[in-house]
Amino acid sequence: MNIKPEVNAARLLASVADFAAIGATPAGGVNRQALGVEDRIARRLLAERALARGFTVFQDEIANLFIRREGKDASLPPLLIGSHLDSQPTGGRFDGALGTLSAFEVLEALADAGTETDRAVEVVAFTNEEGSRYSPGCMGSMAFSGAGKLADWQTTHATDGPVLADELAATLAALPEAAVRPIGHAISAFVELHIEQGPILERENVPIGVVTAVQGTKWLEIVFSGEAAHAGTTPLEFRKDPMSAAAMVIASLQSAIMPADPQARLTIGRIAAEPGSINVIPSSVTFTVDIRHPDAETLAAMERHVRQECETASRHWHCDVAINRRVDMAPAQFASSITETIADTCAALDLKSRPMVSGAFHDALFVSRVAPTAMIFVPCRNGISHNEAEFVSDAHMISGARVLLGVVGSLLLAG
Ligand code: GLV
Ligand code: MN
Ligand code: MN
Repeated sequence: MNIKPEVNAARLLASVADFAAIGATPAGGVNRQALGVEDRIARRLLAERALARGFTVFQDEIANLFIRREGKDASLPPLLIGSHLDSQPTGGRFDGALGTLSAFEVLEALADAGTETDRAVEVVAFTNEEGSRYSPGCMGSMAFSGAGKLADWQTTHATDGPVLADELAATLAALPEAAVRPIGHAISAFVELHIEQGPILERENVPIGVVTAVQGTKWLEIVFSGEAAHAGTTPLEFRKDPMSAAAMVIASLQSAIMPADPQARLTIGRIAAEPGSINVIPSSVTFTVDIRHPDAETLAAMERHVRQECETASRHWHCDVAINRRVDMAPAQFASSITETIADTCAALDLKSRPMVSGAFHDALFVSRVAPTAMIFVPCRNGISHNEAEFVSDAHMISGARVLLGVVGSLLLAG
């Protein structure tokens, strides 16, 4: 007899807690950066749980991890659900993990109910979504959707040293149960559940966000090079000071970009000076710029603005400047066929929902280029994310997983 699949709330909450213990930080968050030891432990735990349930486990050449529950017709492209398991260095326990573990809960719920499906359902944990240890972020989903090539990243160094090729090989080898397949198999659709990472849902007391689009992101790495010199003896007119150039650019961008456009985002998240001595004018200063906007043209204009400011500051401070674009993610528009299914599922479950644009980038941004895709957001406390204090209530986690299960059911029925 076939019974209706139901989310097992206690199992989902226990699973989120189990994974939060991997790479746990004293402040209650996680440090489980891409392709590191903790990431491998998390991947192993998920794979072991999958094998124990009789699902198949495989990975692709960039270590995207897939858990497959077979359907009646193995020739049909699978429905893909999931997110990522890697974290920021001082990350929260829900960013990525909640979407991956909710997707796994959906697979278990289908198995508990003995639900037979025509096509297979696969859960994915994409590699290196965060981009904090290896830049760019979303490497796994970029490679999966053809937007980037593994070959271009193999020699990239981690912030803590090792090249990607070595850490990737070690990660793949740490899961010998999972056969390695070529990158980028066909899928019927992709649905990613994620925490909102912003304050809107909580403020409006709405439990589910139906994500219709993702804003665009560019990451620039800017290096000003000057001349190391004595702090005490070098008069102003002799200084080729890259720190002053960097400060000039940062101050000017911060006072111009966001105050002029409420939709624009600008973040300087990392800065380093060489040689880094208190009484030496630096020889070089490197800093990162993260700019975002929902409109591609405006985002391009923001990049031109950054470049102009860098030229002006380099002339003013007699420095050279080099600008490398590390990430260029165009805004994505999600499939209305999927967003409508999400909204209908929320209505059927008597859960309020609202459409929204994601300010964060996600693997779904890239997967949307190769298959109908959309995202489900759940609220997080005070909108805080990329922070160990990130928190999602049990009720919101359970609602999100129930919506995901309902959406999967509808998409499978629709063929
Ligand atoms: C994803 O982690 C982002 O920075 O938007
Ligand atoms: Mn994430
Ligand atoms: Mn993140």
